[in-house]
Amino acid sequence: MPMKGDVFYSPKSKMLVEILHGGESILESDGSPMQKLEPKTEDSSREKHVPYVETKDKGVLVKIGQNEEHPMTKEHYINYIEVRTSDMTLRKYLNPGDKPHAWFPVDISDIIEVLEWCNIHGLWKA
Ligand SMILES: [Fe+2]
Repeated sequence: MPMKGDVFYSPKSKMLVEILHGGESILESDGSPMQKLEPKTEDSSREKHVPYVETKDKGVLVKIGQNEEHPMTKEHYINYIEVRTSDMTLRKYLNPGDKPHAWFPVDISDIIEVLEWCNIHGLWKA
């Protein structure tokens, strides 16, 4: 049963869906059930995906890659970075060529989780 905040993906259509309100239904794309994604939390390769959060300018700066930035090429890039608090979801969409960073006007102590989507390596959270 999809719950608020769950993220579903269809490898067939490449569609990504985030649930705004849960319900008793099965998500489908092109007649096939969509996969519920479990965000990864630990990098096992050289490329870094786990969001790194630091306070900056009365908010937080989220970096994908603390010391070494994630690639932002046309073939391999971070599509979005999302910050969740108890009553807000803030999302910054990124494009190839952008820095894999996003600033959000929230207090770091209010953050419940931070997610990002890599077009090749999927969903990650911190
Ligand atoms: Fe990646």
